[in-house]
Amino acid sequence: MKFFLDTANLDEIKQAHELGVLAGVTTNPSLVAKEGINFHDRLREITSLVSGSVSAEVIALDAEGMISEGKELAAIAPNITVKVPMTLEGLKAVRTFSELNIKTNVTLVFSANQALLAARAGASYVSPFLGRLDDIGHNGIELISTISEMFDIHGIATEIIAASIRHPQHVTESAMNGAHIATVPLKVIEQMVKHPLTDSGIEKFLADWNNATNK
Ligand code: E4P
Repeated sequence: MKFFLDTANLDEIKQAHELGVLAGVTTNPSLVAKEGINFHDRLREITSLVSGSVSAEVIALDAEGMISEGKELAAIAPNITVKVPMTLEGLKAVRTFSELNIKTNVTLVFSANQALLAARAGASYVSPFLGRLDDIGHNGIELISTISEMFDIHGIATEIIAASIRHPQHVTESAMNGAHIATVPLKVIEQMVKHPLTDSGIEKFLADWNNATNK
């Protein structure tokens, strides 16, 4: 399973990039709004740093509007993936993008049937939202597992992005249940790095070293 960073913040992207674990970036309108920047300018900055997929979401709700916005986004850089909401109009747009060889990420996926339809319309990626499902008492990881099995049975090449990741356990379970990618906030990567035994181990090694060399 690969890692995408779920952010529109350039400093966070630079930090994850330095760690060598960054395979792509996902943004959404809320993340972009939080930054208070020009969307297209920020996409130019992100795509100059990151060579993997960079998801940029359309705002229009009708297929025609999505297609026209998506074409503009895709023209910014060759690694832009157009993010499209999981609706009937979204599916129409995905089909057109697929014919134009523009990559798509179908977002706001909350059921296996939505994922199957998105894949059949030609989506490059589907994004099931784990955290938001867990929030309403459903099981996000179970959904990843079902989609993964379904895609395997039918030989579907659409990649599964585990999205709305809230904690490191989501990451482990997404990997174990067949997600190809997890899109995570930087905070979750930082949490994944930490282990109290690693910290105390470093402390002990240094203490032993200093005791021996300061004699
Ligand atoms: C990813 O593509 C989504 O935009 C994101 O993971 C949503 O996460 P949230 O539920 O924490 O807003």
